[in-house]
Amino acid sequence: MNGPNQNHNTSGVGLVVRGLRKSFDGQEVLRDINFEVRPGEIFVIMGPSGSGKSVLLKHLIGLEEADAGEILINGDPITTPEIAAKYRMALVFQSGALLSSLTVGENVGLYMTEHRLRSPEEIERIVTEKLADVGLTDIVHKMPSELSGGMKKRAAIARALVIEPQLILYDEPTSELDPVSAVVIGDEILELKRRIGVTSLVVSHDRDLAFGVADRIAVMGEGRILTIGTPDEVKNFKDPQVQNFLNADFKREK
Ligand SMILES: Nc1ncnc2c1ncn2[C@@H]1O[C@H](COP(=O)(O)OP(=O)(O)OP(=O)(O)O)[C@@H](O)[C@H]1O
Ligand SMILES: [Mg+2]
Repeated sequence: MNGPNQNHNTSGVGLVVRGLRKSFDGQEVLRDINFEVRPGEIFVIMGPSGSGKSVLLKHLIGLEEADAGEILINGDPITTPEIAAKYRMALVFQSGALLSSLTVGENVGLYMTEHRLRSPEEIERIVTEKLADVGLTDIVHKMPSELSGGMKKRAAIARALVIEPQLILYDEPTSELDPVSAVVIGDEILELKRRIGVTSLVVSHDRDLAFGVADRIAVMGEGRILTIGTPDEVKNFKDPQVQNFLNADFKREK
């Protein structure tokens, strides 16, 4: 059984995206997206607002259906929900997406409660453990509205950890956070790679985060991937669109 908390040595899965295309009302949002994420890798997709990053993530977790192309996990084409269910994938939403009417603990434990996977005592123990994993203690009984933005993001990561994921997808994990809290989240992503070997796909326009945590970076623009490489390779990639995005700065006189 792939229940939560079966083991702590989750090994990350490999992900391949090939020829992915998607249009909404005749507008092409994803135009032939190709990339590969290696098992245990932290792969960051950067790109300006509206370039298609969130839509891409939605395809990976089955919230959107592609017009063309394929997604493979460990070489398995993900064509049906049954095949997708063989693998444990978690998405940490752009907004954190905690349910405001439930306590933090109930939010983190929701998957286990809904699927009746554990007794209430065990769920409480696992929830406390996952919250502690992301540095949160004594907040199980608080409401999401009582948490800071950074705490909400960490609680959302704790909720993702409950399924012992083999692939974690993060959508803008540091948006709305101050620089110190953003570093805490970045360190958390690095720590999860080290501790459980999970594969991480991070979508973000936070340049500090991307260059701080990524093994490799892809830069997207207008529904296409413009380049993929190590942080150094991407930094030195001589393409005006990529350089404009990476070096965007104010026109203040120095
Ligand atoms: N369900 C939908 N129906 C129609 N258009 C959509 C839908 N979802 C997304 N889009 C459009 O697709 C484009 C890409 O959106 P997406 O949310 O992927 O951008 P993003 O790169 O995540 O931007 P941000 O950095 O602001 O989060 C946008 O033009 C958006 O309006
Ligand atoms: Mg987005």
